Amino acid sequence: MNVHKIAVIAGDGIGPEVISEGVKVLEAVAKLDGGFSFEFTHFPWGCDYYKENGKMMADDGIEQLKKYDAIFLGAVGASGVPDHISLWDLLLVIRKSFDQYINLRPVKLLKGAPNVLKDVAPEDIDMVFVRENTEGEYAGSGSWLFKGKPNEVVIQDGVFSRKGCERVIRYAYELAKAQNKTLTSISKGNALNYSMVFWDQIFAEVGEDYPEVETHSYLVDAASMFMVRDPKRFEIVVTSNLFGDILTDLGAAIAGGMGLAAGANLNPEREFPSMFEPIHGSAPDIAGQQKANPLATVWSASQLLDFFGYTDWGKVLIDCIEEVLCEKKVLTADLGGNNSTSEVGDEIIRKIEAKKQ
Ligand code: NAD
Ligand code: IPM
Ligand code: MN
Repeated sequence: MNVHKIAVIAGDGIGPEVISEGVKVLEAVAKLDGGFSFEFTHFPWGCDYYKENGKMMADDGIEQLKKYDAIFLGAVGASGVPDHISLWDLLLVIRKSFDQYINLRPVKLLKGAPNVLKDVAPEDIDMVFVRENTEGEYAGSGSWLFKGKPNEVVIQDGVFSRKGCERVIRYAYELAKAQNKTLTSISKGNALNYSMVFWDQIFAEVGEDYPEVETHSYLVDAASMFMVRDPKRFEIVVTSNLFGDILTDLGAAIAGGMGLAAGANLNPEREFPSMFEPIHGSAPDIAGQQKANPLATVWSASQLLDFFGYTDWGKVLIDCIEEVLCEKKVLTADLGGNNSTSEVGDEIIRKIEAKKQ
């Protein structure tokens, strides 16, 4: 029996509500399969922990997490703790410490999900974002000079290393090649005359190894327009940390909403654990009310199953999400339903069980 050790960080706001559905679903899958199991260890880290202990995670938190095969994370962020502290000291430090340099975010309008785009066929919204996840605009490099004085100066650096750009771009080319899809790079070389000129150069250089991959290159402003007006242009997309962050929330908006937006933070070499999380935040406006849509988390669980090699099960979860969306009987409020978070999780499990009978 293969036992996969998963560290669970439910976090803040709707994090615990959605993550408990994700755990429930993964447990159901393992039970039905019978050939593998998950051992979940829950870590109480997050903003409540900060309020009690003055830190977002244990001092040796990264050392503790290193022993796990994967991390399953809900969301981080709550009032009373500045966002740049809560996120940097938990989510971002994990991504960076574990060199999770690929942030894989599907932007696909599943069957039955609401299509908000006029004149766009649902099947034309089907892309995968490969977002750089450890450096770029979120490298955390900069300075704050003369703080609080009239001559105050703030500098936030964008850090684009050759290694960092090459590896994420190569990963995207490999994905496009394996799936026989086009690859689009999104950058901004006209204004960011160092970082994005360098990015574009590396995109072209790495591309020499992939003559079979059809490529496109867009400036980020035009790309955001095309994502709304003509999304079928995009199949595999590679972009920087900041642009990927923003464009995948736009992606969520055109692919059923934040409640359906999944993501995986991958360390492809598997030297460190990878982390699976819905891309939404802690949604304080609906937290604690069982209103959150758990389907993004279930989709992230599907990515986790894929990562462990259980791709048939990964597909079963997506099929079940689509069935629930098409039937429209058990849905949370963001998708026009009136069911609770856990009712949607239960419905997914019923669908999985029905498929495996
Ligand atoms: P958010 O994603 O939390 O919420 C944006 C909107 O989407 C809200 O109206 C919310 O109700 C809705 N929404 C989000 N997830 C939903 C779900 N599963 N079901 C239904 N509706 C959902 O973004 P925000 O409001 O900008 O940020 C809130 C907090 O979360 C902040 O502290 C922010 O720093 C943090 N944040 C954390 C992460 C993360 O942990 N990965 C990501 C983004 C934001
Ligand atoms: C995301 C989030 C994070 C990011 C924040 C909360 C630091 O917005 O995962 O999309 O920008 O990476
Ligand atoms: Mn984001």
